[in-house]
Amino acid sequence: MTLSVSGLSTERSGRIILHPTSLSIEPSARIGLVGPSGSGKSTLGHALIDDLHRQGRIVAHVPQSPDEALDPLRTMRFHWHEAEAALGLPHDAPRQQQLFSALGIAHGDLRKRPWGWSRGMQQRFVIAMALIGSPELIVLDEPTSALDPVVAADSMDLLDRFLSGRQTAMILITHDLALAAQRVSQLMVMDNGCLVEQASTSALLNTPKTKAAKALSAHRNWMPHPC
Ligand SMILES: Nc1ncnc2c1ncn2[C@@H]1O[C@H](COP(=O)(O)OP(=O)(O)O)[C@@H](O)[C@H]1O
Ligand SMILES: [Mg+2]
Repeated sequence: MTLSVSGLSTERSGRIILHPTSLSIEPSARIGLVGPSGSGKSTLGHALIDDLHRQGRIVAHVPQSPDEALDPLRTMRFHWHEAEAALGLPHDAPRQQQLFSALGIAHGDLRKRPWGWSRGMQQRFVIAMALIGSPELIVLDEPTSALDPVVAADSMDLLDRFLSGRQTAMILITHDLALAAQRVSQLMVMDNGCLVEQASTSALLNTPKTKAAKALSAHRNWMPHPC
């Protein structure tokens, strides 16, 4: 079912940091939310998740760093059980195994605390936790910017593969248009607290209309070059 929000806005310290924004997200959509740092991407992500939760929709969030999701004093097993309990679900070992295999962390030792796992494995664990409840939407906020590029690409490949053929929609928040362009079919551009442009990835890259989208797509040196 399509997810819809309308008139989302956010004010902080007397300043509007998100101007009224309406969105519709189709099942299985792959959307990149791009824009410069401070343009309001995370603010929109949080406002969207809060509103959809209020509507009773199942939406998951993956923060930039696994540190935001994992308590260094708790074991990985504790985090997993807590994530299941938060969704009102009983422990389900086959589901856990399926998600761990999909994210390439089946060899991880659940008795360890987060620092006993590599950063890449921690982030894939957090992504697996986000998928426990088969969410209608997963919002990933700069999910790989703390990882080295190879580990980051592996994590995104595993997620892509897992989501393929599923109904779960994805919003990938990033300031990195190159990363988004490889992963999503639609792009939304934020500038100064406003959603200024929405288009298919190819249309936005080839014929950007707004100043913000033109500035982002002007950095084209990352586009594949013929050898
Ligand atoms: N709690 C807050 N109080 C005041 N200003 C905030 C707060 N959170 C974010 N902002 C401001 O809102 C703007 C958008 O922030 P953010 O959504 O984090 O941008 P982005 O994710 O695109 O980098 C920034 O100018 C930021 O400084
Ligand atoms: Mg942000």
